[in-house]
Amino acid sequence: MVESKMDWGMKNRMSKIIPPDDGRCVMVAVDHGYFLGPTDKLEVPSKTIRPLLPFADSLMLTRGILRTSVNPSANIPIVLRVSGGTSIVGQDLSNEAIVTSIEEAIKLNASCLALSIFVGSKYENQTLLNLSRLVDDGEEYGIPILAVTAVGKEMDRDYRYLGLACRIAAELGARLVKTYYCENFEKVVEGCPVPVIIAGGKKLPKETDVLQLTYDAIHYGAAGVDMGRNIWQSDHPVAMIKAVRALVHENFNVKESYELLVKEKERDKEVQQQQQQQGFMK
Ligand code: R5P
Repeated sequence: MVESKMDWGMKNRMSKIIPPDDGRCVMVAVDHGYFLGPTDKLEVPSKTIRPLLPFADSLMLTRGILRTSVNPSANIPIVLRVSGGTSIVGQDLSNEAIVTSIEEAIKLNASCLALSIFVGSKYENQTLLNLSRLVDDGEEYGIPILAVTAVGKEMDRDYRYLGLACRIAAELGARLVKTYYCENFEKVVEGCPVPVIIAGGKKLPKETDVLQLTYDAIHYGAAGVDMGRNIWQSDHPVAMIKAVRALVHENFNVKESYELLVKEKERDKEVQQQQQQQGFMK
Protein backbone atom coordinates (compact mmCIF):
# COMPACT_ATOMS: atom_id res chain seq x y z
CA MET A 1 0.00 0.00 0.00
CA VAL A 2 2.70 2.45 1.05
CA GLU A 3 4.78 1.38 -1.91
CA SER A 4 2.00 2.09 -4.40
CA LYS A 5 1.53 5.57 -2.89
CA MET A 6 5.23 6.23 -3.42
CA ASP A 7 4.92 4.94 -6.93
CA TRP A 8 2.21 7.49 -7.60
CA GLY A 9 4.35 10.26 -6.12
CA MET A 10 7.33 9.33 -8.29
CA LYS A 11 5.17 9.27 -11.40
CA ASN A 12 3.48 12.51 -10.46
CA ARG A 13 6.81 14.30 -9.93
CA MET A 14 8.29 12.89 -13.13
CA SER A 15 5.28 14.18 -15.05
CA LYS A 16 5.97 17.65 -13.67
CA ILE A 17 9.54 17.51 -14.95
CA ILE A 18 8.79 15.84 -18.28
CA PRO A 19 5.19 16.69 -19.18
CA PRO A 20 3.63 13.50 -20.57
CA ASP A 21 1.79 15.21 -23.47
CA ASP A 22 4.91 15.08 -25.60
CA GLY A 23 7.54 13.63 -23.24
CA ARG A 24 9.75 16.72 -23.58
CA CYS A 25 10.87 19.48 -21.27
CA VAL A 26 12.27 22.97 -21.10
CA MET A 27 14.06 23.15 -17.76
CA VAL A 28 15.70 26.48 -16.99
CA ALA A 29 18.98 26.20 -15.09
CA VAL A 30 19.86 29.00 -12.69
CA ASP A 31 22.03 27.01 -10.28
CA HIS A 32 25.37 28.32 -11.58
CA GLY A 33 26.12 30.43 -8.50
CA TYR A 34 26.61 27.32 -6.37
CA PHE A 35 30.22 27.22 -7.49
CA LEU A 36 30.60 30.26 -9.82
CA GLY A 37 29.21 32.98 -7.56
CA PRO A 38 27.36 35.93 -9.16
CA THR A 39 27.66 34.91 -12.80
CA ASP A 40 27.08 37.43 -15.60
CA LYS A 41 23.32 38.20 -15.93
CA LEU A 42 22.54 36.08 -12.86
CA GLU A 43 23.83 38.64 -10.34
CA VAL A 44 20.30 39.24 -9.04
CA PRO A 45 18.61 35.88 -9.57
CA SER A 46 15.04 37.08 -8.97
CA LYS A 47 15.35 39.56 -11.87
CA THR A 48 16.69 36.86 -14.18
CA ILE A 49 14.16 34.25 -13.17
CA ARG A 50 10.86 36.19 -13.02
CA PRO A 51 10.32 36.91 -16.75
CA LEU A 52 11.24 33.35 -17.73
CA LEU A 53 8.83 31.54 -15.41
CA PRO A 54 5.79 31.57 -17.73
CA PHE A 55 7.80 29.78 -20.41
CA ALA A 56 9.71 27.23 -18.31
CA ASP A 57 8.46 23.72 -17.52
CA SER A 58 10.69 23.61 -14.44
CA LEU A 59 13.44 25.54 -12.69
CA MET A 60 16.77 24.11 -11.56
CA LEU A 61 18.38 25.92 -8.63
CA THR A 62 19.76 25.67 -5.10
CA ARG A 63 17.73 26.04 -1.93
CA GLY A 64 19.27 29.43 -1.21
CA ILE A 65 18.14 30.94 -4.49
CA LEU A 66 14.77 29.21 -4.27
CA ARG A 67 14.06 30.75 -0.85
CA THR A 68 15.33 34.22 -1.65
CA SER A 69 14.44 34.65 -5.29
CA VAL A 70 11.31 32.72 -6.23
CA ASN A 71 7.85 33.61 -5.00
CA PRO A 72 6.45 30.55 -3.13
CA SER A 73 3.14 31.03 -4.93
CA ALA A 74 4.84 30.61 -8.32
CA ASN A 75 3.41 27.54 -9.99
CA ILE A 76 6.70 26.09 -11.21
CA PRO A 77 8.11 22.60 -10.53
CA ILE A 78 11.46 22.78 -8.75
CA VAL A 79 14.57 20.77 -9.57
CA LEU A 80 16.65 21.29 -6.47
CA ARG A 81 20.42 21.11 -6.83
CA VAL A 82 21.67 19.25 -3.78
CA SER A 83 25.33 18.67 -4.59
CA GLY A 84 28.06 21.25 -4.01
CA GLY A 85 30.69 22.31 -1.53
CA THR A 86 33.28 23.47 -4.08
CA SER A 87 34.08 26.75 -5.85
CA ILE A 88 35.71 27.96 -9.04
CA VAL A 89 38.70 29.22 -7.01
CA GLY A 90 39.07 26.05 -4.95
CA GLN A 91 41.21 23.00 -5.55
CA ASP A 92 39.02 20.52 -7.35
CA LEU A 93 35.46 21.02 -8.57
CA SER A 94 34.82 17.30 -8.52
CA ASN A 95 35.17 17.11 -4.73
CA GLU A 96 31.42 17.51 -4.20
CA ALA A 97 29.20 16.31 -1.38
CA ILE A 98 25.45 16.24 -0.87
CA VAL A 99 24.72 19.63 0.72
CA THR A 100 20.96 19.51 1.23
CA SER A 101 19.06 16.83 3.14
CA ILE A 102 16.09 14.92 1.77
CA GLU A 103 13.92 16.36 4.56
CA GLU A 104 14.81 19.87 3.45
CA ALA A 105 14.03 18.98 -0.17
CA ILE A 106 10.62 17.68 0.89
CA LYS A 107 9.95 20.85 2.92
CA LEU A 108 10.78 22.89 -0.17
CA ASN A 109 8.36 20.78 -2.21
CA ALA A 110 11.04 19.81 -4.74
CA SER A 111 9.79 17.79 -7.69
CA CYS A 112 13.24 16.47 -8.53
CA LEU A 113 16.76 16.52 -7.01
CA ALA A 114 19.86 17.22 -9.09
CA LEU A 115 23.40 16.15 -8.31
CA SER A 116 26.62 16.17 -10.34
CA ILE A 117 28.74 13.13 -11.03
CA PHE A 118 32.32 13.49 -12.22
CA VAL A 119 33.14 10.28 -14.07
CA GLY A 120 36.90 9.91 -14.65
CA SER A 121 37.85 12.58 -12.13
CA LYS A 122 39.85 12.28 -8.92
CA TYR A 123 36.58 12.16 -6.95
CA GLU A 124 34.69 9.88 -9.31
CA ASN A 125 33.99 7.29 -6.62
CA GLN A 126 32.82 9.87 -4.08
CA THR A 127 30.40 11.52 -6.52
CA LEU A 128 29.01 8.17 -7.69
CA LEU A 129 28.43 7.17 -4.08
CA ASN A 130 26.72 10.55 -3.55
CA LEU A 131 24.39 9.66 -6.42
CA SER A 132 23.69 6.19 -5.05
CA ARG A 133 22.79 7.55 -1.60
CA LEU A 134 20.61 10.26 -3.08
CA VAL A 135 18.80 7.69 -5.23
CA ASP A 136 18.10 5.63 -2.09
CA ASP A 137 16.56 8.70 -0.44
CA GLY A 138 14.69 9.76 -3.56
CA GLU A 139 13.19 6.31 -4.09
CA GLU A 140 12.13 6.19 -0.43
CA TYR A 141 10.12 9.39 -0.80
CA GLY A 142 9.11 9.22 -4.44
CA ILE A 143 11.40 12.00 -5.69
CA PRO A 144 13.24 11.46 -8.98
CA ILE A 145 16.98 12.11 -9.16
CA LEU A 146 18.55 13.99 -12.05
CA ALA A 147 22.23 13.10 -12.51
CA VAL A 148 24.30 15.86 -14.08
CA THR A 149 27.31 14.52 -15.97
CA ALA A 150 29.90 17.17 -15.19
CA VAL A 151 32.86 17.15 -17.57
CA GLY A 152 36.34 18.05 -16.34
CA LYS A 153 38.64 20.15 -18.54
CA GLU A 154 40.77 17.10 -19.26
CA MET A 155 37.81 15.06 -20.59
CA ASP A 156 36.63 14.94 -24.19
CA ARG A 157 32.96 15.71 -24.62
CA ASP A 158 32.55 12.86 -27.08
CA TYR A 159 29.87 10.20 -27.29
CA ARG A 160 32.07 7.54 -25.74
CA TYR A 161 32.73 9.55 -22.59
CA LEU A 162 29.25 11.07 -22.31
CA GLY A 163 27.66 7.70 -23.12
CA LEU A 164 29.71 6.10 -20.35
CA ALA A 165 28.79 8.77 -17.80
CA CYS A 166 25.07 8.71 -18.71
CA ARG A 167 24.88 4.93 -18.59
CA ILE A 168 26.60 4.79 -15.20
CA ALA A 169 24.16 7.41 -13.87
CA ALA A 170 21.19 5.36 -15.06
CA GLU A 171 22.66 2.12 -13.70
CA LEU A 172 22.98 3.76 -10.28
CA GLY A 173 19.31 4.70 -10.39
CA ALA A 174 19.03 8.24 -11.76
CA ARG A 175 15.56 8.70 -13.27
CA LEU A 176 16.83 11.41 -15.60
CA VAL A 177 20.28 12.39 -16.88
CA LYS A 178 21.64 15.72 -18.04
CA THR A 179 24.60 15.76 -20.36
CA TYR A 180 26.04 17.70 -23.30
CA TYR A 181 25.20 17.39 -26.95
CA CYS A 182 27.94 15.77 -29.06
CA GLU A 183 28.51 14.09 -32.40
CA ASN A 184 26.80 10.69 -32.51
CA PHE A 185 24.51 11.85 -29.72
CA GLU A 186 21.98 9.16 -30.68
CA LYS A 187 24.46 6.59 -29.32
CA VAL A 188 24.47 8.35 -25.95
CA VAL A 189 20.66 8.22 -25.89
CA GLU A 190 20.55 4.63 -27.12
CA GLY A 191 22.82 3.44 -24.30
CA CYS A 192 20.92 5.25 -21.57
CA PRO A 193 17.62 3.68 -20.47
CA VAL A 194 16.28 6.87 -18.85
CA PRO A 195 15.48 10.24 -20.50
CA VAL A 196 18.49 12.35 -21.45
CA ILE A 197 18.33 16.15 -21.50
CA ILE A 198 21.06 18.52 -22.59
CA ALA A 199 22.73 21.50 -20.97
CA GLY A 200 23.35 24.50 -23.18
CA GLY A 201 26.89 25.13 -21.95
CA LYS A 202 28.71 28.46 -22.32
CA LYS A 203 26.94 31.17 -24.27
CA LEU A 204 27.37 30.45 -27.96
CA PRO A 205 28.43 33.27 -30.30
CA LYS A 206 25.38 33.08 -32.55
CA GLU A 207 21.70 32.69 -31.69
CA THR A 208 21.29 30.27 -34.58
CA ASP A 209 23.95 28.04 -32.97
CA VAL A 210 21.74 27.72 -29.88
CA LEU A 211 18.71 26.90 -31.99
CA GLN A 212 20.66 24.38 -34.06
CA LEU A 213 22.04 22.73 -30.92
CA THR A 214 18.55 22.41 -29.48
CA TYR A 215 17.10 21.12 -32.74
CA ASP A 216 19.86 18.53 -33.18
CA ALA A 217 19.59 17.31 -29.60
CA ILE A 218 15.83 16.79 -29.89
CA HIS A 219 16.18 15.25 -33.35
CA TYR A 220 18.70 12.70 -32.04
CA GLY A 221 16.62 11.69 -29.04
CA ALA A 222 17.01 14.18 -26.19
CA ALA A 223 13.91 14.56 -24.01
CA GLY A 224 14.54 18.28 -23.75
CA VAL A 225 16.91 20.89 -22.44
CA ASP A 226 18.18 22.08 -19.08
CA MET A 227 19.42 25.38 -20.41
CA GLY A 228 20.85 28.38 -18.61
CA ARG A 229 23.37 30.82 -20.06
CA ASN A 230 22.23 30.58 -23.66
CA ILE A 231 18.83 31.78 -22.52
CA TRP A 232 19.43 34.33 -19.77
CA GLN A 233 22.72 35.73 -21.04
CA SER A 234 20.94 36.58 -24.27
CA ASP A 235 20.00 40.25 -24.74
CA HIS A 236 16.44 39.00 -25.19
CA PRO A 237 15.98 36.08 -22.79
CA VAL A 238 12.20 35.80 -23.19
CA ALA A 239 12.45 35.76 -26.98
CA MET A 240 15.16 33.12 -26.72
CA ILE A 241 13.25 30.82 -24.39
CA LYS A 242 10.18 31.09 -26.62
CA ALA A 243 12.26 30.03 -29.64
CA VAL A 244 13.82 27.14 -27.70
CA ARG A 245 10.39 26.11 -26.46
CA ALA A 246 9.03 26.03 -29.99
CA LEU A 247 11.83 23.64 -31.01
CA VAL A 248 11.25 21.37 -28.02
CA HIS A 249 7.46 21.33 -27.83
CA GLU A 250 6.16 22.43 -31.20
CA ASN A 251 8.52 20.62 -33.56
CA PHE A 252 9.68 23.87 -35.15
CA ASN A 253 12.72 23.61 -37.40
CA VAL A 254 15.68 25.97 -36.98
CA LYS A 255 14.43 28.44 -39.60
CA GLU A 256 10.95 28.64 -38.06
CA SER A 257 12.32 29.08 -34.56
CA TYR A 258 14.71 31.79 -35.76
CA GLU A 259 11.82 33.66 -37.39
CA LEU A 260 9.95 33.43 -34.09
CA LEU A 261 13.02 34.70 -32.25
CA VAL A 262 13.32 37.73 -34.55
CA LYS A 263 9.63 38.54 -34.15
CA GLU A 264 9.78 38.21 -30.37
CA LYS A 265 12.93 40.36 -30.19
CA GLU A 266 11.14 43.12 -32.10
CA ARG A 267 8.18 42.91 -29.72
CA ASP A 268 10.60 42.98 -26.77
CA LYS A 269 12.31 46.13 -28.11
CA GLU A 270 8.95 47.88 -28.55
CA VAL A 271 7.97 47.07 -24.97
CA GLN A 272 11.34 48.34 -23.70
CA GLN A 273 10.92 51.59 -25.67
CA GLN A 274 7.41 52.10 -24.28
CA GLN A 275 8.70 51.50 -20.75
CA GLN A 276 11.51 54.02 -21.27
CA GLN A 277 9.07 56.62 -22.59
CA GLN A 278 6.72 56.08 -19.67
CA GLY A 279 9.74 56.47 -17.38
CA PHE A 280 10.61 59.85 -18.97
CA MET A 281 7.03 61.06 -18.64
CA LYS A 282 6.85 60.35 -14.89
C1 R5P B 1 26.27 23.33 -14.26
O1 R5P B 1 26.90 22.71 -13.46
C2 R5P B 1 24.98 23.72 -13.94
O2 R5P B 1 24.37 22.64 -13.32
C3 R5P B 1 24.06 24.21 -15.05
O3 R5P B 1 22.78 23.99 -14.59
C4 R5P B 1 24.17 23.50 -16.37
O4 R5P B 1 25.44 23.56 -16.85
C5 R5P B 1 23.14 24.05 -17.37
O5 R5P B 1 23.33 25.38 -17.61
P1 R5P B 1 24.02 25.93 -18.96
O6 R5P B 1 23.00 25.71 -20.03
O7 R5P B 1 24.30 27.35 -18.69
O8 R5P B 1 25.24 25.09 -19.21
